[in-house]
Amino acid sequence: MDIFDAVSSRYSCRAFLNKPVPEQVVRDIVARAARAPSAGNMQPWRVYALAGKRVEDLKALLRPRMASELPKGEGVEYVIYPQPMADPYRARSFTVGELLYQSIGVPREDKPARYKQYARNYEFFGAPVALFFAREKEHGAAQWADIGGYLQTVALLARGHDLHTCPQQAWVSFHKTVRAFLDLPDHLMIYSGMALGYEDPAAPINQWRSPRAPLDDFAVFDDFES
Ligand SMILES: Cc1cc2nc3c(=O)[nH]c(=O)nc-3n(C[C@H](O)[C@H](O)[C@H](O)COP(=O)(O)O)c2cc1C
Repeated sequence: MDIFDAVSSRYSCRAFLNKPVPEQVVRDIVARAARAPSAGNMQPWRVYALAGKRVEDLKALLRPRMASELPKGEGVEYVIYPQPMADPYRARSFTVGELLYQSIGVPREDKPARYKQYARNYEFFGAPVALFFAREKEHGAAQWADIGGYLQTVALLARGHDLHTCPQQAWVSFHKTVRAFLDLPDHLMIYSGMALGYEDPAAPINQWRSPRAPLDDFAVFDDFES
């Protein structure tokens, strides 16, 4: 797979096959992704990779809590979305929600069905591998951005192994449980989780793709020779 295919075929996969990923493959992805650039080469990312019983144990901890604790969970450790969220960002976010729930036939007003799907986050959408990306609490905006670049590099390398991913900030809503489960040191905090595995190509939730704004809406090109 070349880089163009890796970029265009990456999407947030929300249904995975029950097929294990060898540890060596996950190690390869996590190690290679560290080629991502970072300000001052700080390499501020910290990664926790779980499989097997560890994934099952974490899922089992949260499963009984879903019905009563969603959508708020334990409250977020950091604010994910701007409040209020202005257009065009609000409209884009709204659209992606609509497309997601439409793909599985859940109407906007059916809150219980929406929460049920949202709860699939805490099953890692059936993925056999769970990644958590952590950051130093005292680091700033540049390091947040660097970890984002690392996360995307992981997602693209996963494509090189025929794997798919879904980044999951949903885990931030259960940061206390995740902290205890990972025995996360006080100086770190979770930036995002990520489901990693083989996509279920037949799952309705994997059949749609999120739109993108046209190039001219977000980029300016100045003084190029034609
Ligand atoms: C840092 C980050 C966290 C995300 N968290 C979640 C999540 O918790 N659950 C989820 O279903 N999607 C999550 N997403 C996926 C976004 O909704 C998705 O990237 C966006 O809608 C664009 O769609 P695409 O990834 O399929 O191209 C997250 C994406 C990023 C970058």
